[in-house]
Amino acid sequence: MLDFAIFAVTFLLALVGAVLYLYPASRQAAGIPGITPTEEKDGNLPDIVNNGSLHEFLVGLHERYGPVVSFWFGRRLVVSLGTVDVLKQHINPNKTLDPFETMLKSLLKYQSGNGSGSENHLRKKLYENGVTKSLQSNFALLLKLSEELLDKWLSYPETQHVPLSQHMLGFAMKSVTQIVMGSTFEDDQEVIRFQKNHGTVWSEIGKGFLDGSLDKSATRKKQYEDALMQLESVLKKIIKERKGRNFSQHIFIDSLVQGNLNDQQVLEDSMIFSLAGCIITAKLCTWAICFLTTSEEVQRKLHEEVDQVFGKGPITPEKIEHLRYCRQVLCETVRTAKLTPVSARLQDIEGKINQFIIPKETLVLYALGVVLQDPNTWPSPHKFDPDRFDDESAMKTFSLLGFSGTQECPELRFAYMVTTVLLSVLVKRLRLLSVEGQVIETKYELVTSSREEAWITVTKRH
Ligand SMILES: *[C@@H]1O[C@H](CO)[C@@H](O)[C@H](O)[C@H]1NC(C)=O
Ligand SMILES: *[C@@H]1O[C@H](CO)[C@@H](O)[C@H](O)[C@H]1NC(C)=O
Ligand SMILES: *[C@@H]1O[C@H](CO)[C@@H](O)[C@H](O)[C@H]1NC(C)=O
Ligand SMILES: *[C@@H]1O[C@H](CO)[C@@H](O)[C@H](O)[C@H]1NC(C)=O
Repeated sequence: MLDFAIFAVTFLLALVGAVLYLYPASRQAAGIPGITPTEEKDGNLPDIVNNGSLHEFLVGLHERYGPVVSFWFGRRLVVSLGTVDVLKQHINPNKTLDPFETMLKSLLKYQSGNGSGSENHLRKKLYENGVTKSLQSNFALLLKLSEELLDKWLSYPETQHVPLSQHMLGFAMKSVTQIVMGSTFEDDQEVIRFQKNHGTVWSEIGKGFLDGSLDKSATRKKQYEDALMQLESVLKKIIKERKGRNFSQHIFIDSLVQGNLNDQQVLEDSMIFSLAGCIITAKLCTWAICFLTTSEEVQRKLHEEVDQVFGKGPITPEKIEHLRYCRQVLCETVRTAKLTPVSARLQDIEGKINQFIIPKETLVLYALGVVLQDPNTWPSPHKFDPDRFDDESAMKTFSLLGFSGTQECPELRFAYMVTTVLLSVLVKRLRLLSVEGQVIETKYELVTSSREEAWITVTKRH
């Protein structure tokens, strides 16, 4: 339990840590409603830990104090924004650096990419191009991997319980590694090695830094550093191979290599994209299928759409574009699961939200998980209802929050496509069913997942 709260907090502290080096912390409370520190040194950290996660802590805080609240990370004042209205006042569409990536970068102690607005704009374009081209070029591969999973599930007896999270993680690892990093990962052994190192890095990022336990445990620190080094050395090798040559298959790294970035930037960007891309894809696939198993009606409508769009013909990239309802299902999955519940920005110049002054250098949290379940924005917020995205204004709000449209984070854009292909393949042939009596508990980390394995069963459609 402790680890999960620490996980979320650590990311933010790493971000603040990097920043503290540059700027002295602001100690003004600025008159924003909220709580005082429970401990001089740790601020409200014990409250966050006791609430189970940063997201759950923020839910309580916004309930009590309204849309703009404050609390203390250590000795530092933090402001959290918890409604669409106040976020609208703060989100600057000119800021192209994705807050999710910013957090990951500071945790890995990566430094590049802190450049000017125009440089960031260029990188954003490179990323977009990389996502689009690598998915186009690898569409057949994606289809093949989805069909392999389908065949596996078709071979199961109807009563067999399928470990959904595990299968989705495996599927995401296989597809993301090949599309991002290329044919090295046609070899299953390479994928397994990557998955192991990915797991080590991803879980250690979450603990350790905060309480210093990673620094205290020489074994853990060595494991973490070894895993990171192995990931980096694989990437370096691939970057070197792809440089100055043309391959028939375009992978994500090619776009970075062909852009005007130095070697270190290519390495860091491809590391962030593969780390985050794998986990976001895996969790989006898992939650989407989970929600489909619990909503027969949604699954029926999705099957109808898949049937109508593809008929007896093949699944093609052109036709995929017509899966409008499927896109709504995925948006509603991100919303209901609160896939990335918190993001953060640093206040670069003094700002104002409602009547409150936000001092320069304040850490500002976007409590996305709170906003995504706000009944004033989403009627019956706990209901899984893809039809709500029929409404243009709901989609607009969703885009503003960075989950769709031009502000969408590239890893999520990538994940939407991969999940769409997988769902099309599966729903065409299978009915996805929940296991009776199973209660799925949620673990709110940087990316939301289920606490335990999520089991499902499948039956063939006739
Ligand atoms: C949870 O957080 C709230 C602030 O939102 C705090 O007042 C409360 O004490 C915390 N709960 C626990 C069990 O510590
Ligand atoms: C965004 O950039 C445009 C053009 O550079 C500028 O006019 C606008 O004021 C900026 N918006 C914000 C919120 O900074
Ligand atoms: C920006 O990145 C460079 C390395 O690319 C680093 O030396 C510098 O300290 C960074 N500056 C900030 C403000 O983080
Ligand atoms: C790669 O292909 C592009 C156009 O498709 C061409 O302009 C370029 O010269 C080629 N590079 C190499 C190293 O073959």
